[in-house]
Amino acid sequence: MLILGIDTSFDDTAAAVVQDTTVLSNVLSSQLPIYQQWGGVVPRLARQSHQENIDATIALALKRAGITWPEIDAIAVTAGPGLAIALEVGIAKAQELAKLHQKPLVAVNHMEGHLLSVLAHPKHNQEADQETSPSVDFPAMAVLISGGHTQFVKVEGIGNYEIVGETQDDAMGEAFDKVGRMLGLGYPAGAVVEQMAEAGTMSQIVFPIPMQAVKSADTSFSGLKTAAMRIIEPLKATKGFLSQQEIADVAYAFQKACIIHLTKKLKFALENNSVNALMVGGGVAANQAVRTALRNLAKSYGISVYFPYTKKLCADNAAMIAVAGCFMAESGRYFPDPDRLDRNPTLRLGQVVSGSLQ
Ligand code: KG4
Ligand code: ZN
Repeated sequence: MLILGIDTSFDDTAAAVVQDTTVLSNVLSSQLPIYQQWGGVVPRLARQSHQENIDATIALALKRAGITWPEIDAIAVTAGPGLAIALEVGIAKAQELAKLHQKPLVAVNHMEGHLLSVLAHPKHNQEADQETSPSVDFPAMAVLISGGHTQFVKVEGIGNYEIVGETQDDAMGEAFDKVGRMLGLGYPAGAVVEQMAEAGTMSQIVFPIPMQAVKSADTSFSGLKTAAMRIIEPLKATKGFLSQQEIADVAYAFQKACIIHLTKKLKFALENNSVNALMVGGGVAANQAVRTALRNLAKSYGISVYFPYTKKLCADNAAMIAVAGCFMAESGRYFPDPDRLDRNPTLRLGQVVSGSLQ
């Protein structure tokens, strides 16, 4: 099936075309320069920028795929979770196009998109950073690590999900962004923190590992942010600023603590749920140290581990929405009345998209 995917859940305007799980095009109109000035996403500006960019982004996705409207089988759009006023832009555009071109609509959960991103394939093998996975041996444990979510999800099969652990406060990517900001590393800081951590050394700096006594697969990252503040302030107090080596050492210790916390909680999830594989998605899945830790963990449990074929598919993108939409369309899960589709800012995996009940 040929599916056009649209995602305007947060800060980037994204459109993509897939043929089943093969990505024919994956276009992203980044709003990053705006938010670098503001140090974070401003919802009002996100909406405005989505409105300005959405037509051109969709047109480019179709052009790069070499696909015309009559060939498209369905439109898949992110219904949630995300910023309400940003989601609305993509949904309104999908509704308009569905009507104009007489296409059915599929309402996709953004987190299901991240979860299924490991099943996407490139059109040409050289586009892949690593081996692609034609299929996953279910049941699997999805490790969803992004700027808004940190979840362990037991996947019995496509469309059959159970959240077995999640963050009680900040998401893992959010913690990278907040600690990165304290270190003066800009926004978003995840990839820069990783880069700095590479130059970091084992120092006196030690972060406490959160929730060690709690017997659950839930995570908590906000304590690490507070710990970072306690570590950074006295270091700054002596000279008024941090040296590059101090920044690197804090980044190293912080990243290490995040990874220990994530893997300890994932172990709990794996010991209580028998699975054959890990499926890792979300912006933080681009982090090499995280990948190495998850690969080692999977190896110790004798299970496989899957990552998206390119880092572009870890961060927000519309190809994952189109792939998820394709699986839904194949099983006839179209949205009944496109005009009634509403934005679902707090949508959870497995929840019915609001507006779908007639
Ligand atoms: O999945 P994503 O693009 O957006 C959400 O749905 O949230 O994830 C963005 C998050 C940001 O917090 C960003 O700092 C983080 O992923 N991130 C990273 C890395 N690359 C992006 N965190 C750690 N290491 C990275 N290399
Ligand atoms: Zn996301």
